[in-house]
Amino acid sequence: MGSLGLALSSMAAARPTPSLASFPSVPLSNNKYSASLHSSDSLETSRASFCLEISCHRRLPAELRWKMSAATRSGPVVAVAKPEPLKIIISGAPASGKGTQCELIKKKYGLVHIAAGDLLRAEIAAATENGKRAKEYMEKGMLVPDEIVVTMVKERLLQPDAQENGWLLDGYPRSLSQATALEDLGIRPDLFILLDVSEGILIERVVGRRLDPLTGKIYHLKYSPPENDEIAARLIQRFDDTEEKVKLRLKTHHQNVEAVLSIYKDVMLKVNGDAPIEDVFAEIDKALSSILEKKSKTDSSSMAAGS
Ligand code: AP5
Repeated sequence: MGSLGLALSSMAAARPTPSLASFPSVPLSNNKYSASLHSSDSLETSRASFCLEISCHRRLPAELRWKMSAATRSGPVVAVAKPEPLKIIISGAPASGKGTQCELIKKKYGLVHIAAGDLLRAEIAAATENGKRAKEYMEKGMLVPDEIVVTMVKERLLQPDAQENGWLLDGYPRSLSQATALEDLGIRPDLFILLDVSEGILIERVVGRRLDPLTGKIYHLKYSPPENDEIAARLIQRFDDTEEKVKLRLKTHHQNVEAVLSIYKDVMLKVNGDAPIEDVFAEIDKALSSILEKKSKTDSSSMAAGS
């Protein structure tokens, strides 16, 4: 689905502030297009700006393109391409820092975080049949069967918030069959991030990890300790966060990881996950900004070419 935006700016100081009524009528939504008209008027800057955003599934018809260009005759025009949202997969061994980095990525880029492990824990908490079955596998450090995980992740990925804002898939796919299921749906990420962490560090991270059940924030007793005693008192440990269980989880990871990586070689970013949290994020951030910049250049040139 393509998406483009057009921003119209008018300097109030140079001419009277245009009213919303002076813009042509554009269908605000139908099955092919959805459009929104925003107005912001700041007394401080004496500048009025109006922004018309149109998301389209197909090329705009000539009539609508004409209306848009007529609207732009009243003042200087700034065409702003709204890039396609980011689609990111983050992968790595248990406790390599996927969840920690996802929090930071989500905060900066507004992507929808979809963590296979969290979806499964929600099923367990809700005591569903799938949850009960999933827990048996999770306790043994094994992969939960595809018939539970694949549909669950697919349904979440296809929800409108993820399609509109972009997504950040955490801990999926973990096997060749899961990666193939995504490929069969035509779902391919812009970037596949692999957090590479040495084994000794992983075990220390798992054993020291704690979760705040109130905020969902991830802590580590040594590396990211809680901010105060009140938070410290309510922290909990995950049922599979023991040294014995993480060894089983690591074994499962090693058995499957190469097959998954082979599918995403061309979009892979391998990051040294042994580094401090901020350094790992800086590397990911650089890669994501560069992808966004490229996307926005591509969309601008398609706009200029009228496609
Ligand atoms: P899941 O919940 O996905 O667990 P995991 O992959 O084992 O990963 P974790 O959540 O344990 O770790 P993380 O990489 O997010 O690390 P975090 O940021 O918390 O899966 C659990 C189970 O569900 C699986 O075993 C399986 O049974 C099942 N499952 C899940 N997905 C499945 C799928 N697709 N198919 C089938 N089954 C599936 O960090 C860890 C700790 O380290 C934290 O305390 C953090 O504060 C600290 N830390 C993080 N980064 C740093 C850093 N750079 N420096 C110092 N400390 C750090």
